[in-house]
Amino acid sequence: MLIHILTLFPQMFQGPFAESIIKRAQEKKLVEINIHNLRNWANDKRGTVDDRPYGGGAGMVLMIEPIYNALKSLKPKIEKTVLLSPRGKVWNQEMARKYAKLKHLILVCGHYEGVDERIKKFVDEEISIGDYVLTGGEIPAMALVDSIVRLIPGVLEKEEATKFESFSGPQIPNATYNILHTRLLEYPQYTRPENFQGQKVPKILLSGNHQAIAKWRQEQALKLTKKRRPDLLR
Ligand SMILES: C[S@@+](CC[C@H](N)C(=O)[O-])C[C@H]1O[C@@H](n2cnc3c(N)ncnc32)[C@H](O)[C@@H]1O
Repeated sequence: MLIHILTLFPQMFQGPFAESIIKRAQEKKLVEINIHNLRNWANDKRGTVDDRPYGGGAGMVLMIEPIYNALKSLKPKIEKTVLLSPRGKVWNQEMARKYAKLKHLILVCGHYEGVDERIKKFVDEEISIGDYVLTGGEIPAMALVDSIVRLIPGVLEKEEATKFESFSGPQIPNATYNILHTRLLEYPQYTRPENFQGQKVPKILLSGNHQAIAKWRQEQALKLTKKRRPDLLR
């Protein structure tokens, strides 16, 4: 998969993409991530990419021309163009799964007060990572890339981990389960020690009875989802 990110702050991406699973995915050539400085497509030598909003108001707005020029030069190879925006569709695991099948993706990070509305004509989707406002689209772009890349086949050593995790359907292999309940939170996990300050690991997990463990996990996942995220069960 080839991902282009358009940003005013390329340095922000150095850390998150140079560690752990995302780093290894790039080393294995399962994903190529190109970070582009939007100023490279500015119309003037000073690299101006923002201006005051028409109609007045606080802050600056990213201009359409540099973004248009950037998209035009990258576009021939791009399947999907996304603007990160708090006004967009809220990102979720199902969308991450769909995006993980793409070959080419471009993410446009807004900043300051946002982006000239006319960008709408040139993007396929506006995506938000939640109902709150960040200073820029960089952290949302990182969140999207991270959630997408871990779902690309071959990225995680144990791909099963992404089949039975939160928001990803029945929590155990071969679960006979109401098809409507396809998005559950994950069941509780434990590791050593068996007893920590009086908090004991549930006995069933020590029983070695895989069928009983699977049933317990499924029940726990449903219980937790009902309590914390009943909206997922609707
Ligand atoms: C300060 S925000 C602009 C907010 C805008 N004035 C509004 O009220 O909707 C600057 C940029 O950060 C990014 N951004 C902020 N919050 C976001 C969110 N929840 N999801 C995705 N992108 C976000 C967008 O790219 C946005 O253009």
